[in-house]
Amino acid sequence: MASPDGIKMTWLGHSTFLIESDGNRILIDPWVMGNPACPDDLKDPGPLDAILITHAHFDHIGDAVELGKKTGAAMVSIPETSHWLGSKGLENLVEFNKGGTVEVAGVKAHMTHAVHSCGITDGDQVLYGGEAAGYVIEFASGFKLYHAGDTAVFSDMALIGKLLAPDWAMLPIGDHYTMGPRSAAEAVRLLGVKHVVPMHFGTFPALRGTPDELREAAGDVVNLEVHDLEPGRSIG
Ligand code: NI
Ligand code: MN
Repeated sequence: MASPDGIKMTWLGHSTFLIESDGNRILIDPWVMGNPACPDDLKDPGPLDAILITHAHFDHIGDAVELGKKTGAAMVSIPETSHWLGSKGLENLVEFNKGGTVEVAGVKAHMTHAVHSCGITDGDQVLYGGEAAGYVIEFASGFKLYHAGDTAVFSDMALIGKLLAPDWAMLPIGDHYTMGPRSAAEAVRLLGVKHVVPMHFGTFPALRGTPDELREAAGDVVNLEVHDLEPGRSIG
């Protein structure tokens, strides 16, 4: 199991994380300005090399267009969402699809499946955004981080565990729009990970799952560490 030494992971609240490694800055799911969980001093995440988008719901791409224009970061997403970003004037687009891998900002990003929807709210319309996805991010050190995006649990997480073998997993636990703690515990078993960073909980009252509920539901998993962050706090 590779360790995250030298990699700094900061939770900006909800599903948004800033990952700093080898001088590169990667933002996963750009929702900061409108994100009620994001601390005021982090609503401007600063320079970015890449922005990874799991899916097009507003609570994941709310600030994608503005941050992409401001930073010039590579915008990494599934093709249909990428096309929409292009229609909004973004030019540094990296589109690929599930099962594929791209090299960006010093890492390899593998796109994984997610069981969720992906409509883009644009004015009063909901546009087709492709499908929801997740990423396994492989760092130069060999450390592999899975950001599941929004998803229900699915049995092919075992395949992600087998083929991509993530060391750590960022998993939604809030329930309502994604899996809750009991399903997330099954995701932990399927993936075979020993380190979990819970996300997509507490932002709104409906997202009621808690890290303690995950700990209890996954009590049978030997040596599991649930890294229970506050928004704005970092690991590494
Ligand atoms: Ni969603
Ligand atoms: Mn969401």
